[in-house]
Amino acid sequence: ADEGMWLLMLIKRLNGVDMQKEGLHLTPEEIYSVNNSSLKDAIVSFGGFCTGEIVSDKGLIFTNHHCGYGAVAAASTPEKDYLKNGFWAMKQKDEFNAKDLYVRFLVRMDDASQRINAKLNNKMTGEERKAVIDAETKAIQAENSENGKYTVVVKDFFNGNEFYYFVYQDYKDIRLVGAPPSSLGKFGGDTDNWEWPRHTADFTVFRVYADAAGNPAEYSPSNTPLKPKHFLPVSLKGIKPGDFSMILGYPGRTNRYLTSYGIQQMVNKDYPAWVEASKLAMDVMKKYMDKDKATQLNYASQYASVANYWKNRQGTIDAVIKNGTITDKQKTEANFKQWALQPANIEYDGVLDDISIYYKQVSNRNVERNYATQLYRNAKYISLASQVGPVLKSYAEQDMAGRLAMKPKVEAAVKAAYENFNTKLEGEMLNSMVGLYQSRVDKDVASPTIMALDSKNLSNVAYSSIFANKTSVTNFILNPDRLKLDADPLLKIANGVTTDQRLSSEKFSKIDDNFAKNNRIFLAGLMKSMPEKKFYPDANFTMRLTYGTVDKLPIRTDRNYFGVTDNYYTDMTGLVGKYKKGDEEFDLPQRVIDLYNMKDFGQYADAAGFMPVNFLSNNDITGGNSGSPVIDGDGNLIGIAFDGNSEALSGDIVFEQEWQKTINVDVRFVLWTIDKYAGARRLIDELKLVRSENTPA
Ligand code: ARG
Repeated sequence: ADEGMWLLMLIKRLNGVDMQKEGLHLTPEEIYSVNNSSLKDAIVSFGGFCTGEIVSDKGLIFTNHHCGYGAVAAASTPEKDYLKNGFWAMKQKDEFNAKDLYVRFLVRMDDASQRINAKLNNKMTGEERKAVIDAETKAIQAENSENGKYTVVVKDFFNGNEFYYFVYQDYKDIRLVGAPPSSLGKFGGDTDNWEWPRHTADFTVFRVYADAAGNPAEYSPSNTPLKPKHFLPVSLKGIKPGDFSMILGYPGRTNRYLTSYGIQQMVNKDYPAWVEASKLAMDVMKKYMDKDKATQLNYASQYASVANYWKNRQGTIDAVIKNGTITDKQKTEANFKQWALQPANIEYDGVLDDISIYYKQVSNRNVERNYATQLYRNAKYISLASQVGPVLKSYAEQDMAGRLAMKPKVEAAVKAAYENFNTKLEGEMLNSMVGLYQSRVDKDVASPTIMALDSKNLSNVAYSSIFANKTSVTNFILNPDRLKLDADPLLKIANGVTTDQRLSSEKFSKIDDNFAKNNRIFLAGLMKSMPEKKFYPDANFTMRLTYGTVDKLPIRTDRNYFGVTDNYYTDMTGLVGKYKKGDEEFDLPQRVIDLYNMKDFGQYADAAGFMPVNFLSNNDITGGNSGSPVIDGDGNLIGIAFDGNSEALSGDIVFEQEWQKTINVDVRFVLWTIDKYAGARRLIDELKLVRSENTPA
């Protein structure tokens, strides 16, 4: 029952009965309701890339440490390094605005499939199809946004066979309340990332603020904590294998209906390219990050994110091979082909062959995209010139009055562009990433602009450009010269790259559109061929529910479990057991060691006496779910989901029944860290704690 990322409004139809059997005591109405407050009102999309949950009647949010990482890094300086040392607002007035963050509440959702599909057919070109969907989307937005009060998003599901719309309310005044030091919040670093057993306090605490009427508002000192429609009580009862657990959150992307042809392209071509290019970018960053503190902070977030996917992609390649994922898919496809031979299913016949031909046609182009993506993501000189260039151009074209009016906007764009910018690092990054692209990408599909560059000398080109650094751009703003801008060597490269990309996507647009159509038809056929099976849509950053139980993994002989024999949890003995003083990944604050030695676990200890740290459940999550609440059968918070295990990284393509687990921080360890380690008792006091007779006093 653990496979599946279900849409909330469908749980009644699909799983109500199943979930009750597994131990859920809530009705579907208590989980998702349009009219009454329900569980969904306590779940937020955090910044559009993670999930968070409301845990108090004052808008307190729990999410992951790695979700708050960018905000905490941005607020840190070498003198006040919150990332390294942690941050705790001991009073409410110490909570400060975390720039650029927002949280999104789901107001309601609805099915728009009939409405949109009525206007579509398979004879349309990709462009025609898009025009219809865009027009319907506009209409749906106009009908539901209440003049901008709500953000309305229409998304397609099941490879474009179905459509749902989502009505959201966004809050923008989000304040940092508490973050553990990285030694706790990222304990184990990249070595332990994607691994179990795990010992990480991967959580951060924020708070939503609203205006006096409880409405969203820009940051203002006069805003007050939001009184939410619902918040999650926190359970101190403890957990054991088999206990019901569900996770609500915003999973980002899965590819569960990817064909064997797609998987072969992925593991043989695309991901190896991704892995190689991101590793090179990491090495360049690391070289400069190790040299000074400011660079370390400026690049911490980018590095962590590149490293996270680097390990994920390599792990996916390994897991797909080890788990025989391709053979499994081939079996399903053989059955499908058989089924499609029946006269009634003739429209599905041949669709898989067309898909297999498609991958041959685009194989090299897809490899190019992987090298290119890492190049643009990491070699910021190019993206910077293409972002700031047009702004400077329109500025330079104004008369005096126009320039004066535009200046604040230009200066803000420049400030943002150079915020985390180390010119030496970026120069080397440009040379390295372009050099790699040139040596790996097939000429037929490569960007001619990039192929023509002298990769050894590129940094010097950048340094001689208007965009070399903040000072050179600032000088240009004081003394704008259109001709000089048009002749700028870096801007020319950036513009050339943009043109090349457009030409390439035009060249492939017909076959890409045709592929999208075949993918849609294939999945429609697959669903039709298995009428008894319950299908769930791929993740697409919409709210989903996954249910299952607390669960364990088989013991591996090559791992140290620090005395735990029932492999569903880890405890503080393991945390302290892994401690390496002064290590980049396995250091710990002395206070943690001291508290452990004194066994000062308070009410957060397990009834069996140990201090729980992380645990496993068999829920079905992926990236984007980070920070999601793990909820028991009564609607109480028992943990915060933060990772998956390397044995099952093929899981975004096929759910691995035996191996695929979610790694969660035990909420009791979260509270222990807040209370015993940080002394921020006031935060514990605003939670609604749920105890059992066994909970230690
Ligand atoms: N692997 C986690 C995810 O993508 C992110 C973990 C962040 N921690 C770390 N040590 N990099 O959900």
